[in-house]
Amino acid sequence: MKLYTLRKNTNNLRITEFQNGIIGQNIQILSEIPSTNDYLKEILSNSEPFPEGSVILAVHQTQGRGQIKASWQSSPGENLTLSFPLYPKFLPIIQQFRLNIALSLAVHATVKEILPNHDVCIKWPNDILVDNKKISGILIENFLQGKTWKSVVIGIGLNVNQQDFPIQGNFHATSLSKVSSTSFDLNKVFHILCSHLNARYSDLQNANKFLDMKKCYLENLFGYETDKEILVDGIIKMGKVKDVNEWGEIRIEFPENERNFRIKEIQFQP
Ligand code: BTN
Repeated sequence: MKLYTLRKNTNNLRITEFQNGIIGQNIQILSEIPSTNDYLKEILSNSEPFPEGSVILAVHQTQGRGQIKASWQSSPGENLTLSFPLYPKFLPIIQQFRLNIALSLAVHATVKEILPNHDVCIKWPNDILVDNKKISGILIENFLQGKTWKSVVIGIGLNVNQQDFPIQGNFHATSLSKVSSTSFDLNKVFHILCSHLNARYSDLQNANKFLDMKKCYLENLFGYETDKEILVDGIIKMGKVKDVNEWGEIRIEFPENERNFRIKEIQFQP
Protein backbone atom coordinates (compact mmCIF):
# COMPACT_ATOMS: atom_id res chain seq x y z
CA MET A 1 0.00 0.00 0.00
CA LYS A 2 1.18 3.54 -0.70
CA LEU A 3 1.94 5.78 2.23
CA TYR A 4 0.15 9.07 2.66
CA THR A 5 0.39 11.76 5.29
CA LEU A 6 -2.19 11.00 7.92
CA ARG A 7 -3.24 13.67 10.37
CA LYS A 8 -6.05 13.61 12.87
CA ASN A 9 -7.73 16.87 13.85
CA THR A 10 -5.36 19.18 12.00
CA ASN A 11 -5.62 22.85 12.97
CA ASN A 12 -7.43 23.85 9.81
CA LEU A 13 -9.74 20.82 9.77
CA ARG A 14 -11.29 19.83 13.06
CA ILE A 15 -13.71 17.04 12.35
CA THR A 16 -15.16 15.00 15.19
CA GLU A 17 -16.70 11.56 15.04
CA PHE A 18 -20.44 11.19 14.61
CA GLN A 19 -21.82 9.18 17.52
CA ASN A 20 -25.39 8.36 16.42
CA GLY A 21 -24.94 5.87 13.62
CA ILE A 22 -22.43 3.75 11.78
CA ILE A 23 -21.57 6.31 9.10
CA GLY A 24 -19.04 8.73 10.57
CA GLN A 25 -18.22 6.87 13.79
CA ASN A 26 -14.55 6.38 12.81
CA ILE A 27 -12.67 9.02 10.86
CA GLN A 28 -9.23 9.16 9.30
CA ILE A 29 -8.19 12.60 8.11
CA LEU A 30 -5.52 12.72 5.43
CA SER A 31 -3.76 15.97 4.75
CA GLU A 32 -3.12 15.20 1.07
CA ILE A 33 -4.22 12.29 -1.08
CA PRO A 34 -4.98 11.74 -4.78
CA SER A 35 -8.49 10.35 -4.20
CA THR A 36 -10.27 9.21 -1.03
CA ASN A 37 -12.19 6.59 -3.05
CA ASP A 38 -8.95 5.11 -4.41
CA TYR A 39 -7.32 5.13 -0.99
CA LEU A 40 -10.31 3.38 0.56
CA LYS A 41 -10.29 0.78 -2.22
CA GLU A 42 -6.65 0.06 -1.41
CA ILE A 43 -7.51 -0.38 2.26
CA LEU A 44 -10.39 -2.72 1.39
CA SER A 45 -8.19 -4.82 -0.87
CA ASN A 46 -6.19 -5.81 2.24
CA SER A 47 -7.63 -8.74 4.13
CA GLU A 48 -8.09 -6.77 7.37
CA PRO A 49 -11.76 -6.03 8.10
CA PHE A 50 -12.59 -2.34 7.83
CA PRO A 51 -15.65 -1.19 9.77
CA GLU A 52 -18.71 -0.16 7.77
CA GLY A 53 -19.25 3.59 7.67
CA SER A 54 -15.66 4.52 8.67
CA VAL A 55 -14.78 7.76 6.93
CA ILE A 56 -11.65 8.67 5.00
CA LEU A 57 -11.58 12.45 4.69
CA ALA A 58 -9.05 14.51 2.72
CA VAL A 59 -7.98 18.04 3.52
CA HIS A 60 -6.56 18.23 0.01
CA GLN A 61 -7.64 15.78 -2.66
CA THR A 62 -5.36 16.21 -5.66
CA GLN A 63 -6.92 13.83 -8.20
CA GLY A 64 -10.55 13.58 -7.17
CA ARG A 65 -12.63 11.47 -9.51
CA GLY A 66 -16.19 11.93 -10.69
CA GLN A 67 -18.44 9.58 -12.61
CA ILE A 68 -17.25 8.20 -15.93
CA LYS A 69 -13.77 9.71 -16.07
CA ALA A 70 -14.81 13.20 -14.95
CA SER A 71 -12.60 14.89 -12.37
CA TRP A 72 -13.63 16.47 -9.07
CA GLN A 73 -11.68 19.57 -8.12
CA SER A 74 -11.76 20.97 -4.63
CA SER A 75 -9.63 23.67 -2.93
CA PRO A 76 -7.62 22.44 0.09
CA GLY A 77 -9.43 22.65 3.43
CA GLU A 78 -12.52 24.42 2.08
CA ASN A 79 -14.90 21.59 1.28
CA LEU A 80 -15.84 18.07 2.32
CA THR A 81 -14.22 15.35 0.22
CA LEU A 82 -14.74 11.98 1.83
CA SER A 83 -15.34 8.28 1.28
CA PHE A 84 -16.74 5.45 3.36
CA PRO A 85 -17.55 1.79 2.74
CA LEU A 86 -20.96 0.15 3.09
CA TYR A 87 -21.71 -3.56 3.18
CA PRO A 88 -25.42 -3.64 2.26
CA LYS A 89 -25.94 -7.42 2.56
CA PHE A 90 -29.67 -6.83 3.08
CA LEU A 91 -30.06 -5.33 -0.40
CA PRO A 92 -30.57 -7.67 -3.39
CA ILE A 93 -27.95 -6.87 -6.03
CA ILE A 94 -30.66 -6.10 -8.60
CA GLN A 95 -31.90 -3.34 -6.28
CA GLN A 96 -28.54 -1.57 -6.15
CA PHE A 97 -29.97 1.66 -7.58
CA ARG A 98 -31.94 1.98 -4.31
CA LEU A 99 -28.67 2.83 -2.60
CA ASN A 100 -28.17 5.67 -5.08
CA ILE A 101 -31.66 6.94 -4.20
CA ALA A 102 -30.98 6.80 -0.44
CA LEU A 103 -27.60 8.56 -0.71
CA SER A 104 -28.88 11.26 -3.06
CA LEU A 105 -31.77 11.98 -0.70
CA ALA A 106 -29.36 12.23 2.24
CA VAL A 107 -27.10 14.76 0.53
CA HIS A 108 -30.11 16.62 -0.83
CA ALA A 109 -31.60 16.86 2.70
CA THR A 110 -28.25 18.09 4.07
CA VAL A 111 -28.08 20.94 1.58
CA LYS A 112 -31.79 21.76 2.04
CA GLU A 113 -31.36 21.89 5.83
CA ILE A 114 -28.48 24.37 5.48
CA LEU A 115 -30.05 26.41 2.66
CA PRO A 116 -33.81 26.17 3.35
CA ASN A 117 -34.67 29.14 1.12
CA HIS A 118 -32.95 27.88 -2.00
CA ASP A 119 -34.07 25.61 -4.78
CA VAL A 120 -32.22 22.34 -4.11
CA CYS A 121 -32.73 19.40 -6.43
CA ILE A 122 -31.17 16.13 -7.57
CA LYS A 123 -29.97 15.89 -11.14
CA TRP A 124 -30.28 12.24 -12.11
CA PRO A 125 -28.64 10.09 -11.03
CA ASN A 126 -27.01 11.83 -8.04
CA ASP A 127 -25.75 15.37 -8.59
CA ILE A 128 -27.08 17.90 -6.13
CA LEU A 129 -27.93 21.30 -7.61
CA VAL A 130 -28.65 24.58 -5.87
CA ASP A 131 -30.29 27.25 -8.01
CA ASN A 132 -29.20 25.26 -11.10
CA LYS A 133 -25.54 25.00 -10.06
CA LYS A 134 -23.75 21.86 -8.90
CA ILE A 135 -22.88 21.81 -5.21
CA SER A 136 -22.26 18.11 -4.63
CA GLY A 137 -21.46 14.91 -6.48
CA ILE A 138 -21.56 11.30 -5.36
CA LEU A 139 -19.39 8.50 -6.71
CA ILE A 140 -20.68 5.00 -5.91
CA GLU A 141 -18.40 2.08 -6.74
CA ASN A 142 -19.88 -1.40 -6.26
CA PHE A 143 -17.70 -4.45 -5.64
CA LEU A 144 -19.38 -7.83 -5.99
CA GLN A 145 -18.17 -11.35 -5.30
CA GLY A 146 -20.22 -13.54 -7.62
CA LYS A 147 -23.80 -12.68 -6.76
CA THR A 148 -23.14 -11.16 -3.34
CA TRP A 149 -21.86 -7.82 -2.12
CA LYS A 150 -18.25 -7.43 -1.19
CA SER A 151 -18.43 -3.71 -0.54
CA VAL A 152 -19.63 -0.41 -1.88
CA VAL A 153 -17.26 2.54 -1.82
CA ILE A 154 -19.17 5.81 -1.51
CA GLY A 155 -17.38 9.08 -2.31
CA ILE A 156 -19.02 12.41 -1.61
CA GLY A 157 -17.75 15.84 -2.60
CA LEU A 158 -19.73 18.69 -1.02
CA ASN A 159 -18.61 22.23 -1.76
CA VAL A 160 -18.78 24.23 1.46
CA ASN A 161 -16.60 27.36 1.61
CA GLN A 162 -14.91 27.53 -1.80
CA GLN A 163 -15.65 30.78 -3.67
CA ASP A 164 -14.04 30.32 -7.09
CA PHE A 165 -14.48 27.34 -9.35
CA PRO A 166 -13.04 26.46 -12.73
CA ILE A 167 -15.64 26.39 -15.50
CA GLN A 168 -16.29 22.68 -16.04
CA GLY A 169 -19.33 20.81 -17.35
CA ASN A 170 -22.55 22.49 -18.39
CA PHE A 171 -23.78 23.02 -14.82
CA HIS A 172 -21.39 25.45 -13.13
CA ALA A 173 -20.17 24.69 -9.62
CA THR A 174 -21.14 26.49 -6.45
CA SER A 175 -20.79 26.08 -2.67
CA LEU A 176 -22.93 26.53 0.43
CA SER A 177 -20.96 29.67 1.19
CA LYS A 178 -21.12 31.12 -2.30
CA VAL A 179 -24.91 30.97 -2.51
CA SER A 180 -25.53 32.25 1.01
CA SER A 181 -22.58 34.64 1.56
CA THR A 182 -21.88 32.93 4.90
CA SER A 183 -18.96 30.74 5.84
CA PHE A 184 -19.63 27.34 7.39
CA ASP A 185 -17.96 25.18 10.00
CA LEU A 186 -16.94 22.02 8.13
CA ASN A 187 -17.46 19.93 11.27
CA LYS A 188 -21.08 21.09 11.61
CA VAL A 189 -21.77 20.38 7.93
CA PHE A 190 -20.12 16.95 8.32
CA HIS A 191 -22.41 16.13 11.28
CA ILE A 192 -25.56 17.21 9.42
CA LEU A 193 -24.45 15.07 6.47
CA CYS A 194 -23.77 12.04 8.70
CA SER A 195 -27.16 12.34 10.39
CA HIS A 196 -28.98 12.28 7.02
CA LEU A 197 -26.77 9.51 5.63
CA ASN A 198 -27.46 7.30 8.64
CA ALA A 199 -31.20 8.03 8.55
CA ARG A 200 -31.54 7.16 4.88
CA TYR A 201 -29.29 4.11 5.12
CA SER A 202 -31.44 2.81 7.93
CA ASP A 203 -34.64 3.56 5.90
CA LEU A 204 -33.16 1.48 3.09
CA GLN A 205 -33.12 -1.53 5.44
CA ASN A 206 -36.87 -1.25 5.84
CA ALA A 207 -38.49 -2.36 2.56
CA ASN A 208 -41.75 -0.59 3.52
CA LYS A 209 -40.03 2.77 3.34
CA PHE A 210 -38.83 2.39 -0.22
CA LEU A 211 -42.00 3.68 -1.91
CA ASP A 212 -41.77 6.90 0.08
CA MET A 213 -38.07 7.25 -0.69
CA LYS A 214 -38.67 6.73 -4.38
CA LYS A 215 -41.51 9.29 -4.35
CA CYS A 216 -39.29 11.82 -2.57
CA TYR A 217 -36.43 11.14 -5.05
CA LEU A 218 -38.73 11.67 -8.06
CA GLU A 219 -40.32 14.81 -6.63
CA ASN A 220 -36.89 16.34 -6.12
CA LEU A 221 -35.47 15.37 -9.51
CA PHE A 222 -34.42 18.15 -11.85
CA GLY A 223 -37.00 18.14 -14.66
CA TYR A 224 -39.56 15.91 -12.93
CA GLU A 225 -42.84 16.53 -14.74
CA THR A 226 -41.32 19.80 -16.00
CA ASP A 227 -40.09 20.50 -19.51
CA LYS A 228 -36.31 20.82 -19.78
CA GLU A 229 -33.88 21.02 -22.65
CA ILE A 230 -32.14 17.68 -23.01
CA LEU A 231 -29.29 16.74 -25.34
CA VAL A 232 -30.23 13.39 -26.84
CA ASP A 233 -28.86 11.69 -29.99
CA GLY A 234 -26.88 14.89 -30.72
CA ILE A 235 -29.87 17.22 -30.68
CA ILE A 236 -31.48 19.32 -27.98
CA LYS A 237 -35.12 18.42 -27.39
CA MET A 238 -37.71 19.37 -24.82
CA GLY A 239 -38.59 16.54 -22.49
CA LYS A 240 -39.80 15.83 -18.97
CA VAL A 241 -38.72 13.23 -16.45
CA LYS A 242 -41.46 10.67 -15.75
CA ASP A 243 -39.78 7.94 -13.70
CA VAL A 244 -36.64 5.94 -12.88
CA ASN A 245 -36.71 2.14 -12.95
CA GLU A 246 -35.10 -0.46 -10.66
CA TRP A 247 -31.95 -0.47 -12.87
CA GLY A 248 -31.56 3.28 -12.54
CA GLU A 249 -32.65 4.13 -16.07
CA ILE A 250 -34.50 7.41 -16.43
CA ARG A 251 -37.77 7.63 -18.38
CA ILE A 252 -38.23 10.83 -20.39
CA GLU A 253 -41.40 11.96 -22.14
CA PHE A 254 -40.82 13.84 -25.40
CA PRO A 255 -43.65 15.35 -27.49
CA GLU A 256 -43.43 12.36 -29.87
CA ASN A 257 -42.67 9.40 -27.53
CA GLU A 258 -41.30 8.18 -24.18
CA ARG A 259 -37.87 6.56 -23.84
CA ASN A 260 -35.60 5.10 -21.16
CA PHE A 261 -31.95 6.17 -20.91
CA ARG A 262 -28.84 5.01 -19.10
CA ILE A 263 -26.19 7.32 -17.68
CA LYS A 264 -24.35 9.41 -20.29
CA GLU A 265 -26.99 8.77 -22.96
CA ILE A 266 -28.59 12.13 -22.23
CA GLN A 267 -27.37 15.46 -20.94
CA PHE A 268 -29.69 17.90 -19.22
CA GLN A 269 -29.16 21.57 -20.08
CA PRO A 270 -29.21 24.15 -17.24
C1 BTN B 1 -19.44 13.33 -9.69
O1 BTN B 1 -20.02 14.40 -9.56
O2 BTN B 1 -19.24 12.85 -10.82
C2 BTN B 1 -18.99 12.59 -8.49
C3 BTN B 1 -17.97 13.36 -7.70
C4 BTN B 1 -17.47 12.61 -6.48
C5 BTN B 1 -16.34 13.33 -5.81
C6 BTN B 1 -15.94 12.67 -4.53
S1 BTN B 1 -14.82 13.66 -3.60
C7 BTN B 1 -14.48 12.32 -2.53
C8 BTN B 1 -14.45 11.07 -3.37
N1 BTN B 1 -13.13 10.80 -3.91
C9 BTN B 1 -13.09 10.91 -5.23
O3 BTN B 1 -12.07 10.76 -5.94
N2 BTN B 1 -14.30 11.22 -5.71
C10 BTN B 1 -15.27 11.30 -4.65
